Amino acid sequence: MRFRYVPLIAALAWAGWLAAAPGGQEAAKKTQAPAAASPAKKEYVGSDTCAGCHDEIHANFKKNAHTILETNKRRGWQGKACESCHGPGSVHAESTSADDILSPKNMTPAAIDQMCLGCHRNQQTQVGRIQSGHARNSVACTSCHNVHKTGEEASARQFRRAAGVNQNCRQCHMDVWASFQKPHRHPLPEGAMSCTGCHNPHASFLNRNMRLTSGQQPSCFQCHADKRGPFVFEHAPVRNEPCTICHEAHGSANPRMMTRHEAANLCLECHSNIQSPPRATTAGGIAIATHDLRLPRWRNCTACHQKVHGSNVNGAMLR
Ligand code: HEC
Ligand code: HEC
Ligand code: HEC
Ligand code: HEC
Ligand code: HEC
Ligand code: HEC
Ligand code: HEC
Ligand code: HEC
Ligand code: HEC
Ligand code: HEC
Repeated sequence: MRFRYVPLIAALAWAGWLAAAPGGQEAAKKTQAPAAASPAKKEYVGSDTCAGCHDEIHANFKKNAHTILETNKRRGWQGKACESCHGPGSVHAESTSADDILSPKNMTPAAIDQMCLGCHRNQQTQVGRIQSGHARNSVACTSCHNVHKTGEEASARQFRRAAGVNQNCRQCHMDVWASFQKPHRHPLPEGAMSCTGCHNPHASFLNRNMRLTSGQQPSCFQCHADKRGPFVFEHAPVRNEPCTICHEAHGSANPRMMTRHEAANLCLECHSNIQSPPRATTAGGIAIATHDLRLPRWRNCTACHQKVHGSNVNGAMLR
């Protein structure tokens, strides 16, 4: 008896597929009302037509980087820059209905991204954009970039200054911004550096959208090149682990943004085989008389091991 419903299910599935397919909603509408006149074909009408009703937006647009589309022949949108994003506008210019024009307000984040990437896909900075944490969490291009805002809010000016970038990021990442209020942190609150010094807002091949240096290494080396090495005597974790195994990149209550208040506690997390005499004989190869952790003198590891990131002269990284 179940088979009686098969045609119905098939019809529903077909309608569902239509609605899901690109342009499917129009197609679905058409099938529901076959008697209605087929909608007029959308044509390009040019930006001057848009300006007739959207004069303020049109005037402001001259300050936006995209205004180059209006005049640059090579790009193929000469005289019709508005429609390069909003699509052909002839029907909307007649009806003035919001339903007849592509409007990011009514689009899903994924659809907005596709719209922007139509032109921006091949830019180096966009690599993997669609897979990034932002795209996966519905943070569209337009969450960060304004096309029609002006003055301080316009993306171009906003992102030319580090403070403007930070302002944008912290709207959503309040918890991260809070870390930058701790006593030891990078100079972001001063506006001397921005989130994008370390992160690529668009994406990266590394976790957490970390920016890569030209050598495909994490961004820390961009500014702290002296930590990169190669060193004759390397400290294994500096080479093999992220810097964050010892440092809190966003900020810390501990000097040097260490993950632990006292360096010794950090060192001993990995070097616990340094035992105090008399129990140890040659713990970890260290002679008995040294590293007696009962004595304060031995607890300030970095007073002696000054080159913890690596040394070119001393195997114990003493200098
Ligand atoms: C005859 C006047 C007129 C012309 C010409 C016109 N528009 Fe509009 N447009 C309107 C009106 C009125 C609205 C507000 C519609 C609403 O809110 O329902 C609108 C709304 C919009 C919206 C926002 C839709 C939304 O979701 O709220 C966009 C985008 C838009 N127009 C783009 C364009 C573009 C691009 C052109 C040129 C191709 C253009 N318009 C030409 C009158 C016009
Ligand atoms: C680079 C892509 C792009 C171009 C080019 C573009 N727009 Fe837009 N437009 C957008 C986006 C994105 C929005 C959504 C609001 C926002 O993010 O600023 C929008 C929103 C609008 C709106 C609705 C504004 C509102 O406040 O509801 C209108 C009207 C509009 N655009 C008209 C135009 C006109 C007229 C032009 C040409 C002068 C134009 N757009 C050029 C991307 C574009
Ligand atoms: C029709 C092609 C096209 C589309 C669609 C497009 N852009 Fe652009 N975009 C350009 C061009 C051309 C430039 C000018 C920069 C250049 O010289 O290459 C530009 C520049 C930019 C810049 C740099 C601004 C600056 O001040 O340097 C940003 C940010 C940007 N676009 C974001 C977007 C966003 C967000 C969208 C989607 C809402 C979008 N673009 C859609 C062509 C396009
Ligand atoms: C999380 C915020 C964010 C999102 C989402 C975002 N951007 Fe950006 N974008 C920025 C910032 C910040 C800059 C400034 C570059 C910098 O400081 O390194 C920028 C710069 C740009 C530039 C200028 C050229 C460059 O690479 O520096 C273009 C073009 C651009 N973005 C396009 C896009 C497009 C297209 C999308 C959507 C697919 C997008 N952006 C999504 C924050 C964002
Ligand atoms: C509109 C809100 C919004 C803005 C603006 C925004 N983000 Fe995000 N960001 C998110 C969301 C949502 C996530 C995903 C959830 C999470 O990991 O916290 C995210 C994730 C991230 C991640 C982790 C990525 C991953 O793959 O795990 C980084 C790094 C990041 N954002 C940096 C930035 C930077 C830098 C800026 C400014 C240029 C910025 N964000 C602006 C909402 C935003
Ligand atoms: C000094 C470099 C640096 C700066 C500046 C920086 N970050 Fe990060 N961020 C990191 C590192 C390193 C991680 C951890 C990466 C990992 O887990 O592999 C991280 C992780 C994140 C994450 C993932 C979740 C978390 O809290 O661990 C988010 C979101 C984030 N950063 C946002 C931001 C925002 C927003 C700013 C600016 C206010 C910012 N970051 C500035 C280096 C930095
Ligand atoms: C865009 C440049 C830049 C990048 C990228 C960068 N830093 Fe820094 N770093 C700085 C500046 C500037 C200071 C502050 C120097 C000062 O105040 O004397 C600093 C200081 C530090 C300090 C010392 C803080 C103190 O209290 O003395 C540590 C530790 C540090 N950074 C670790 C990192 C780590 C880990 C990364 C990668 C996740 C990183 N930095 C990425 C610029 C950068
Ligand atoms: C094994 C733990 C450890 C790792 C891993 C590590 N650091 Fe450090 N770092 C330290 C200690 C301990 C200090 C404090 C040294 C002192 O007090 O003299 C320090 C200090 C710093 C300083 C400030 C003083 C200076 O020498 O300039 C910077 C900057 C820094 N580290 C950057 C980095 C970067 C970048 C990485 C990743 C390549 C990294 N560190 C990895 C332990 C580590
Ligand atoms: C994340 C784990 C880790 C942390 C934290 C750590 N180390 Fe190491 N350290 C290692 C490893 C692994 C080696 C290599 C051991 C080997 O080759 O046998 C090493 C080697 C050393 C060596 C000997 C170098 C050699 O080749 O003989 C010294 C000295 C040293 N660490 C000092 C420190 C000091 C001081 C600290 C605290 C600032 C510290 N370490 C923090 C993992 C760590
Ligand atoms: C008073 C100076 C001094 C202090 C403080 C000190 N060390 Fe050392 N450490 C040395 C010297 C000198 C050597 C080299 C011993 C040798 O070559 O036999 C060494 C060697 C080491 C080695 C390498 C052993 C090996 O197998 O080569 C490690 C690991 C180490 N120290 C860890 C630490 C840790 C962790 C601390 C802090 C709890 C610390 N040291 C504090 C002077 C010091």
